[in-house]
Amino acid sequence: MKNTMKISTLAATALLATTTSVSAGDVEVLHWWTSGGEAASVNYLKDKLSDAGVGWTDFAVAGGGGENAMTVLKSRAISGNPPTAAQIKGPSIQEWGDLGFLADIDGVAKANDWDNLLPAVVSDVMKHDGKYVAAPVNVHRVNWMWSNPEVFRYAGATIPTTWDDFMVQAAKLEKAGFIALAHGGQAWQDATLFEAVVLGVGGADYYNSAFVSPVDLDVLKSDTTVEVFETFGNLRQFIDANSPGRDWNVATSMVMEGKAGMQIMGDWAKGEFKVAGMNVGTDYVCTAAPGTSGGHTFNIDSFAFFAQSDAARTAAQNTMAAEILGTDFQTVFNLNKGSIPARLGVSRAEFDSCAHDSMDAFIAASASGSLVPSFAHGMAVSSAVSGAIYDSATNFFNSDQSAQEGADQLVAAVAAAM
Ligand code: GAL
Repeated sequence: MKNTMKISTLAATALLATTTSVSAGDVEVLHWWTSGGEAASVNYLKDKLSDAGVGWTDFAVAGGGGENAMTVLKSRAISGNPPTAAQIKGPSIQEWGDLGFLADIDGVAKANDWDNLLPAVVSDVMKHDGKYVAAPVNVHRVNWMWSNPEVFRYAGATIPTTWDDFMVQAAKLEKAGFIALAHGGQAWQDATLFEAVVLGVGGADYYNSAFVSPVDLDVLKSDTTVEVFETFGNLRQFIDANSPGRDWNVATSMVMEGKAGMQIMGDWAKGEFKVAGMNVGTDYVCTAAPGTSGGHTFNIDSFAFFAQSDAARTAAQNTMAAEILGTDFQTVFNLNKGSIPARLGVSRAEFDSCAHDSMDAFIAASASGSLVPSFAHGMAVSSAVSGAIYDSATNFFNSDQSAQEGADQLVAAVAAAM
């Protein structure tokens, strides 16, 4: 089922609709970037637009991973009052485009040569019916692990590079009195952890067949999925009892403060270390999530533009699209956000070693076939299938289901959502 975000779903949330008045030359921008690093990034976009004479009305909806933001966006859209631009990514862009909501920004894209500035893996997602409807701000790598080297030293442990070793080293951290794995018990964070295990245990071919559209149910039904759930289930013991509901950036601060040894999270976590004035290598360490070195689970943030009836608003929207692809913007925004530029031709000089690793892995993984879209961050499957994966991963993780039960539940949920 291609278009899963039916009008009926939109209508169901219509009662929540609100109205705002935004001056014609301004942009009203919906996003969910409210943590320290995220706010620094979005503020830079606001400043860039202000320099270009475009005012900003902030439409921030807190909640990591963006689920809350998407619910609010649907209510605004169905009430006929969508924002000028919204943080929409991956296959959802197609879903919004199919519903007829999006503006064609192909003129800006052509004038600025986007087809040559963007790798095809990025530009393909930004187009609907062959025309650009969205502008990419970054490429996040999701399969990262963030560690506190001092905690490891104190516990006599080493940073693990395989899942088997993870269990051994995590046990050492716990024995020394630390929380081994900083984690927030929210569905999207459970899915992010699950995704790292899927890639680490199953490898890129399995990941691409079982977790990327069109999902191959035979591969999803294989024993590899049971192995994935076994490893995933083994992580439950390394998470503290206070994790339910914890925000991802609070989990990052547990690593910063030396309460926890590790966090598995996309490189937006690096934005938090940056805001806290911490340095990579000495204060914290970035390594690929266990078993995924050389792999790259990508998550491209982008702003999709909503069709406008007012010419001044369209002009403001076009300015925003053009600014986003500028080399200045792509540099500073991504230094703050922890990600790497989405466009080609940006100097690597100012970026740190984690960003260089991500850039290298992106290129190498793309050549070797281990560049995979993040299903936990809306890059790989329709919103319905993604919802089925979220529910199965989080139900399993927060219960005492066996690995076999987890795998069976996942297969049934994905099959029903396809
Ligand atoms: C992701 C988003 C990132 C980051 C993260 C946590 O889905 O792509 O930019 O903000 O959520 O909020």
